[in-house]
Amino acid sequence: MSSRRLLLLLMASTGLCAQQLRTLKGVPVPEPPALGDYVADRTALVALGKALFWDMQAGSDGRTACASCHFHAGADHRIEHQIADPLHEFPTNVTLDPVMFPFRVLADPLNRGSVVTRDTGMRVGSMGLFLRKFVDIVPGQATEIGEELADRVEFSSAGRHLRQVTSRNAPTVINSVFTVLNFWDGRANRVFNGFDPAGDARPGILTVSGGQLTRAPVSLDRASLASQAAGPILDTGEMSYKGRTWPKIGKKILSLPPLALQQVAAGDSVLGSMARVGGRGLRDGVSYESLIRSAFAPALWESSQLVDGEGAVLAGRNAPARSTSEFTQQEYNFSFFWSVALMAYQSTSVSNDSPFDRFMEGDSGALTAEEQDGMRFFQNNGRCTTCHSGAEFTRASFSAGNGRNNRAFQNTGVRPASEDAGRGNGSFKTSGLRNVALTGPYMHNGGQATLEQVVEFYARGGDFGNNGIRSFNSNSANRAALVAFMKALTDERVLYDRAPFDHPELCVPNRHLMNGSDTAAFPASAGNAWVSVPATGAGGHSLPLQTFAELLGGRSTGRSHTMTDPCTVPLP
Ligand code: HEC
Ligand code: HEC
Repeated sequence: MSSRRLLLLLMASTGLCAQQLRTLKGVPVPEPPALGDYVADRTALVALGKALFWDMQAGSDGRTACASCHFHAGADHRIEHQIADPLHEFPTNVTLDPVMFPFRVLADPLNRGSVVTRDTGMRVGSMGLFLRKFVDIVPGQATEIGEELADRVEFSSAGRHLRQVTSRNAPTVINSVFTVLNFWDGRANRVFNGFDPAGDARPGILTVSGGQLTRAPVSLDRASLASQAAGPILDTGEMSYKGRTWPKIGKKILSLPPLALQQVAAGDSVLGSMARVGGRGLRDGVSYESLIRSAFAPALWESSQLVDGEGAVLAGRNAPARSTSEFTQQEYNFSFFWSVALMAYQSTSVSNDSPFDRFMEGDSGALTAEEQDGMRFFQNNGRCTTCHSGAEFTRASFSAGNGRNNRAFQNTGVRPASEDAGRGNGSFKTSGLRNVALTGPYMHNGGQATLEQVVEFYARGGDFGNNGIRSFNSNSANRAALVAFMKALTDERVLYDRAPFDHPELCVPNRHLMNGSDTAAFPASAGNAWVSVPATGAGGHSLPLQTFAELLGGRSTGRSHTMTDPCTVPLP
């Protein structure tokens, strides 16, 4: 073996392979090589994806969008009714408080061996749907017919059902296109099969060939975001009543005017030209059907032949359908349109213009002396770049050897592996740290409220087990510098919700109100205080986003997304 090959092998096996921190500008945005086989118009595809991501009508309750848990720098900073714990009892409808963090407290936070004064396996997740059984859709109506179901005792209070809460913290969707496998445990397969996150071969979608509908298996590589998008829409804790199916979702969403409940700014960078100025939703003539027809190849939607819920041709039956159990090709293929459009929209959520990027591009004044000290500590004594490296700040990226390295997923000792095994043995995806100042609370369990707490966690060598973290010596100036450096990873466009991070209006459920239900159809469900996340145009808010720690500490002046504006959406 030549000495050069030996060196390369050594570098690869020890993980020393030059994964220098660098600007994200110029790093190609990963894309499925076969996308062009399906997609006719990229601009229409992104518009479709943006409308779907923000549309509250998508959830079974007609009020829950993907954005409902990803509205704040791509993440969720709500502090009301966000606690869950799959293994133990936990308190519900609690307002998070600074004194609850971190979830593991030591007498000396820099010494892992010191006395533990508090420890909890609770998680800060995101509140999703009430547990309900799916009965059917009503075309033209966003709310589906469902039945209330008994849930865990924790998700009920005073005889009323409460919303379920996810048992992991919602990570940001911004820059998620750069990671090979999405979700904390990487279960969103890099190969999208057209239907679900698992990647296994599925029967395929329906295409028109020689005038007939035929099955075409889908195998789209570099498409973890499409695999991911097929998850929450059918998840009974997130967006779906139990038993809902893809064709029903397609039939419902295709029957609804896009974003009908929400205001879209005339200056929206993607949807502005289609916005209904002075009203809600998009202007007449722009429908989900028209967006799909612009975005995708005709062979995927042009047939009027009706099929059943399994995609089997109903001989002699053509659109219009006589019942909610007959589907057009377009409705049947909706799983594909939904997932690919959401992938395309989230692929435009690229944040690459922080002070750090400008510094790496040669603007030596872009980082303060303290931030530069923090960067050196991050790379050297802190050994953070062992895992948080490259332009993406994570070795789970395509550029870090297609994510195939042992730092893409790591056990950092956040919790015992017995509570959540993650990708196995308590390993979780190495987070990309861009905009991390805005995406608290931190870690898969949401158990750290501030970056200061995260830095102390690392300084003491993690909390549990034999993990990949080595404790390090530091003084308070080193730790403050590390935090300052991480705060310099904030992109102002994210901080102010400017293009491409501008968005339609959204209403999100906040605190549960126990004196009645919001909806006559579900009298046993608790109500909610609904709060507004106002629409922005490309120019964004005039005030910066509030951080999780600020909301926790009660700071609301001089910030946007303060969770105090009443909802203006006419809830169905
Ligand atoms: C009820 C809240 C909720 C809703 C609604 C929701 N998500 Fe998430 N999202 C989460 C949580 C929690 C996770 C982490 C789950 C895990 O990794 O196990 C997550 C993870 C993700 C990730 C992975 C990011 C990463 O770094 O791994 C992406 C991308 C994402 N969601 C996009 C979406 C899209 C697209 C939709 C709509 C189809 C959606 N989410 C709906 C809560 C939600
Ligand atoms: C051995 C690999 C490894 C090293 C070294 C490492 N990290 Fe991490 N980091 C991870 C992983 C994996 C996660 C997610 C862990 C989890 O939630 O279980 C993470 C999560 C984080 C988060 C939370 C991000 C979020 O959005 O929740 C921050 C902040 C962070 N790391 C900063 C640092 C800093 C600062 C250092 C150096 C002092 C460092 N990391 C060293 C692997 C590493």
